[in-house]
Amino acid sequence: MQLNTMNNENHTTFHDHEFALIGDFFKNLERQGPCCPKQTLKALGFCGELPENARIADIGCGTGGQTINLAWNTDGHITAIDLMPAFTENLRQKIAGTKLHRRITVLDGSMDDLPFAANSLDLIWSEGAISHMGFEEGLRYWRQFLKPSGYVAVTEATWFTPSRPAEIAEFWKENYPGIDTIPAKVAAMERAGYFPVAHFAMPEYCWQNYYRPMEDIFEPFLLKHDYNGPSQDLVDNIKREVSLYQTYKEFYGYTFYIGRKA
Ligand SMILES: C[S@@+](CC[C@H](N)C(=O)[O-])C[C@H]1O[C@@H](n2cnc3c(N)ncnc32)[C@H](O)[C@@H]1O
Repeated sequence: MQLNTMNNENHTTFHDHEFALIGDFFKNLERQGPCCPKQTLKALGFCGELPENARIADIGCGTGGQTINLAWNTDGHITAIDLMPAFTENLRQKIAGTKLHRRITVLDGSMDDLPFAANSLDLIWSEGAISHMGFEEGLRYWRQFLKPSGYVAVTEATWFTPSRPAEIAEFWKENYPGIDTIPAKVAAMERAGYFPVAHFAMPEYCWQNYYRPMEDIFEPFLLKHDYNGPSQDLVDNIKREVSLYQTYKEFYGYTFYIGRKA
């Protein structure tokens, strides 16, 4: 789920029917953002030696692709939170009756109003979601929930070049003006109270992993919604986003940022 469909700086600005439609489209995907299990594990490798029974939060978990990957590759307990009930329900169903059921708690909630005690988490994870609060603002707010020296790992939209063509600059200005270069994001992480530990750009195939499965669900989704205006708009917006990515991918992408609470 990319930013033109989900850039809710204030999630109350969504109308119920738009919210439901977005949920109905994206819940059918394994992931709601650019992704790759390998990159998740690479980022996890920078998060130090997690203690036994580590407490982990996955914020903006979507349908939980990375949550499940994290659970298989860590000990301890993960609390996965998302605003979209269609996604949390999907994740609950996926883990019901599996071993992971006891190690993952799925909550409906907002990233700007988290239910954790201060200094209680070893690791905060968030793929493709912190933009909904803003990178620096989210990092600053989440910091209080981390134990001293706890880790944060997030992906964030990032410019790869100092300048870029007007069409793609305009697209991001409309959808997520917070996109910036790696040095700017690293500086923001420091200002928010973290030691930057590592960052790396997610390879192009992570975007293809995300976009490719959509091709199979456009038609069934439109059919289900009788090709009505809102469903057609949603599909058109997504197709435009995909096409812009194919044209301009050398200029932007997601970068993983890993930091340690200072
Ligand atoms: C790009 S998707 C990423 C989902 C998942 N982490 C992944 O990588 O597949 C962004 C997610 O953030 C969630 N989200 C948006 N605003 C939120 C908020 N205020 N609180 C919690 N989750 C939110 C969306 O519902 C969506 O699942």
